[in-house]
Amino acid sequence: MKATAQAQSNIALTKYWGKRDAKWMLPNNGSVSMTLDQFFTVTTVEFDSNYAQDEFWLNRQKMAEGEEAKEVFAHLDLIREMAKISTKAKVMSENNFPTAAGLASSASGLAALSMAGANAAGLNLNKIELSILSRRGSGSAARSIEAGFVEWIRGTDPEGKDSHGRQIAPPEHWPEFRMIVNIVKTGQKKWKSRAGMAQTVATCPYYPVWKETAQKDSEQMREFILKKDFTAVGKLAEFNSLKMHATMITTQPPIVYWHPVTVDIMQNILQWREEGLESYFTMDAGPQVKVMCLEKDEKELVKRLNGISGIERIEACKAGPAAKLLEKHLF
Ligand code: DP6
Repeated sequence: MKATAQAQSNIALTKYWGKRDAKWMLPNNGSVSMTLDQFFTVTTVEFDSNYAQDEFWLNRQKMAEGEEAKEVFAHLDLIREMAKISTKAKVMSENNFPTAAGLASSASGLAALSMAGANAAGLNLNKIELSILSRRGSGSAARSIEAGFVEWIRGTDPEGKDSHGRQIAPPEHWPEFRMIVNIVKTGQKKWKSRAGMAQTVATCPYYPVWKETAQKDSEQMREFILKKDFTAVGKLAEFNSLKMHATMITTQPPIVYWHPVTVDIMQNILQWREEGLESYFTMDAGPQVKVMCLEKDEKELVKRLNGISGIERIEACKAGPAAKLLEKHLF
């Protein structure tokens, strides 16, 4: 039984940072994201009794040990438990962007693995069930099943039956919206999100402020997206990201994801905005800066960003499609 799926990565406009339950992967607050059209993971899963043990290949490299392989194998166990099978599997994954560099590779990766794995195991899951399965692999993956603008509902159920992704609006709702991804440094990050957020919850004196305000930010973001109010979306996304980074840097020991080029881009965006070129920035658990703007300003911004030294790659993204099954397998 073999299946292949493609899932897009997503960038949060209001962030998920901190869990209320690590076993069920439940967030302290809801979050809102945009699915990206340019960055994705393709994954093929095959369950076959010929495999003596699970195998995981990432970008054509066999991953024997390490955290990624462990996460994939644990996720396969979850899928086997749901499908009531014990067959081992081979998993092959390809990202069209750098892994673990703050570009949400775990989001597209776990969403693609969930969709391909569930299908290969003969499970017939709907979008909500797929989002819940993805969430259990990586929280942000819950938002990579749907297209366009997506919210991950916080929910209240202790086992997370009501904590999943849901579309706010499809890509066609706002075709002018752009997220310009600036890849600053492709090295692996020091603090993985999972450990980083746990350390923040445990030691940051400002985390309670995050917890009190982040849910409301997401509810407001949803309304601003529906109204297509670019200024309101940009301002809130930037503020929410800086608020999250404020909790990161005041964690003990400190978690500083920024690179000098990260700060350089932020300073420029603020300056250009003052001069009348409207754009906003957002950063996740890595040095990359994602710049939000409208189509009319994309060209000028990309030109100016190209003038900042230290940016390795610039990719202007639109809201992207939902996760889908592909007919062509990777092996
Ligand atoms: C900063 O979803 O990677 O990108 O649930 O532990 O796998 P786990 O963490 P992950 O965290 C993403 C954090 C973030 C913000 C966001 O995408 O909302």
